[in-house]
Amino acid sequence: MYGLTGRRAIVTGAAHGIGRGIAARLAAEGCDVGLFDLDRAAAESAAASLGGAGRMAVASGDVSSRADVESGIGALVAELGGCDILVNNAGICRIGRMLDMPEADWHATFGINVNGLFHATRLVAPAMVERGSGVIVNLASWMGKSGVEAYGAYCASKFAVVALTQTLAVELGGSGVRVNAVAPGLVVNTKMRDESEAKRRAEGLPLAADRAQAIPLKRAAVPEDIANAVAFLASEQASYITGETLSLTGGLWND
Ligand SMILES: NC(=O)c1ccc[n+]([C@@H]2O[C@H](COP(=O)([O-])OP(=O)(O)OC[C@H]3O[C@@H](n4cnc5c(N)ncnc54)[C@H](O)[C@@H]3O)[C@@H](O)[C@H]2O)c1
Repeated sequence: MYGLTGRRAIVTGAAHGIGRGIAARLAAEGCDVGLFDLDRAAAESAAASLGGAGRMAVASGDVSSRADVESGIGALVAELGGCDILVNNAGICRIGRMLDMPEADWHATFGINVNGLFHATRLVAPAMVERGSGVIVNLASWMGKSGVEAYGAYCASKFAVVALTQTLAVELGGSGVRVNAVAPGLVVNTKMRDESEAKRRAEGLPLAADRAQAIPLKRAAVPEDIANAVAFLASEQASYITGETLSLTGGLWND
């Protein structure tokens, strides 16, 4: 436990996968948790399953839309009475080589993975700055550190997440606001992974279970592994860490 009792946390993309795991971990820490997601029904069922002593609040909307973020995340901030921890987790992954991928996939990837972070941070961070404290944790990826065939849009969006993490850390550090990212490798038990596995199976590409054998720790990550690191970065124990992108890859791809 990281001493987060009573902190007000907002997690985007909290209905499924890693975001749901982060929301559960922060709830177990005693945080009040606001869940924001496109999928309202799943976000409500996630909130109902979280447990924890704190309050739970749910709002739905599209992170790529400033209006949705202002109304949805704005409502969560109002309901929780503020926000001490923002986790920019909502993301998508569209696979396609740069010369072939539909332009719409490029824009959708940047709209959610980058503009979503931009909108949510610009909504929530000013009050943190005014208060002189707050923590932001962004979901990057090992693909935010290396270019990977057929993942150009996703890689570029996650490089942008790493760059914004560093920039925000520099801009907000003097106001007592820390900004870090985590860069997971292969994470299973998420909707994104299930979708990508289905595509890879159809294309005869190696699946997660086989790929995990190349990982020094000999297993893929699960959402709880990522949530543990996010809870640490959100805590006072990480009070001198900012601008960092922490690889959570089991030892592979640690650039
Ligand atoms: N799964 C992995 O292997 C992996 C690896 C590295 C990084 N990541 C990153 O972790 C984050 C979570 O990934 P995941 O695997 O849990 O994915 P997921 O698909 O299981 O969950 C993503 C969540 O985001 C929500 N979402 C999607 N678009 C949204 C939008 N426009 N507005 C609001 N909510 C939206 C979805 O409804 C879903 O609940 C992403 O940023 C992803 O890029 C995942």
